[in-house]
Amino acid sequence: MTLDAEARAILAGNDRGGYTVPTAGLYPYQWNWDSVFAAIGFAEHDRARAWAEIETLFSGQWPNGMVPHILFHKVDPSYFPGPDVWGGIGPVPSSGISQPPIAATFIRCLFEQDRALGAAHLRGLIPRLRDWHRWFLQWRGEGGAICVSHPWETGRDNTPDWDAPFAAIEPVGVEEYRRRDTSHVVEDERPRAYDYDRYLYLVKLGRESGWDEAHIKAVSPFRVADPTMTFTLLRANRDLLALSREAGEPTDEIERWIAEIEAGAEQLWNPDIGAYDCLDIRTGQHSGVISNASFLPWYAGLRDDRMLAHFTRIRGLTRFSVPSTDPAHPAYEPRRYWRGPVWAMMNMLIAMGLDEAGHGDLAADLRQNTAELIATGGFAEYFDPRDGSPAGGRNFTWTAAVWLAWASPTTEKSTCPASS
Ligand code: DGY
Repeated sequence: MTLDAEARAILAGNDRGGYTVPTAGLYPYQWNWDSVFAAIGFAEHDRARAWAEIETLFSGQWPNGMVPHILFHKVDPSYFPGPDVWGGIGPVPSSGISQPPIAATFIRCLFEQDRALGAAHLRGLIPRLRDWHRWFLQWRGEGGAICVSHPWETGRDNTPDWDAPFAAIEPVGVEEYRRRDTSHVVEDERPRAYDYDRYLYLVKLGRESGWDEAHIKAVSPFRVADPTMTFTLLRANRDLLALSREAGEPTDEIERWIAEIEAGAEQLWNPDIGAYDCLDIRTGQHSGVISNASFLPWYAGLRDDRMLAHFTRIRGLTRFSVPSTDPAHPAYEPRRYWRGPVWAMMNMLIAMGLDEAGHGDLAADLRQNTAELIATGGFAEYFDPRDGSPAGGRNFTWTAAVWLAWASPTTEKSTCPASS
């Protein structure tokens, strides 16, 4: 089987009818940004299915605008923490936190691929995207830098960015629990028990408040401004603005958000290391970690080349790029989830940005490197940067989707329009 055929078979195998699971067993539900990647993968051969994926995701939107990070359409005991632990309050059983808002950006790609088909879907989706983005600004915005109330919200669960804020949390009152992830994946490739205790402590805090965002914002020990959220939301707002103009929808509010985040993103610049990193709002401390998310300012449409020297330095440190943590950082662990491994979908976002910012050579190199990575390690969840060996889950939706939509040598240049 060719890699293209294998990737399509993975999408088909993970399709549960209207939504796609990231991979069976380890992640048996609909995850927010995984689903958006699934949609662009489907779009290569089935555009109607791509739109259905997005619409199922938004069927779980909460009345306050939040689009959850997990939708539990059908209970599956192979995953923990499930719907009871979360106690989500939306129309579909769900988690109580969100995930990086890449939907507007890839909805715009789908629309550009087939405007006639897209126009009908846009009408319903634009107000939903607006409500979601407004929720981020209202509850996660700190002067235009976008925060998270839980590490899972960034998708970068156990990055060393959280080490300092986590050290300040005493996970008291967490009931006994049994992890399921380590029955699917070896322990060394997953977060430690120390991290899980704190993940569950933060879930409990949110659930017990009835997911009252004002309360969480006031009392949670974990409130960290993060480059993934800040840069994906900035980019998403630019794309929502373009879509709204197209559809004759209001734009003033979106223009304000863009200006606010453009200014606020500067708070993530850490002069001590000369890089974007995380900012702990509770302590005012930067994390001091260069992660793959530090390379998203180009994707956000910022014409800012201050990360370029770090990019080329890190590109030279391992055979496969971009490691999720700078290999020169003492916390780097090349196989442990977000503490070192390469993630193909992050590479796609970084390369989109590089390309648009006039660094087409670096974008092409990263695409080629990612294609070799997938050819070496298969459609894994993530990869060891030293040799491309697979880690985490297998038959992974977003790796297959990113192959089809971007990395495969048979893929034409991306149809995603530039952000600005
Ligand atoms: C997990 O369970 O590992 C997920 O990353 C949470 O979203």
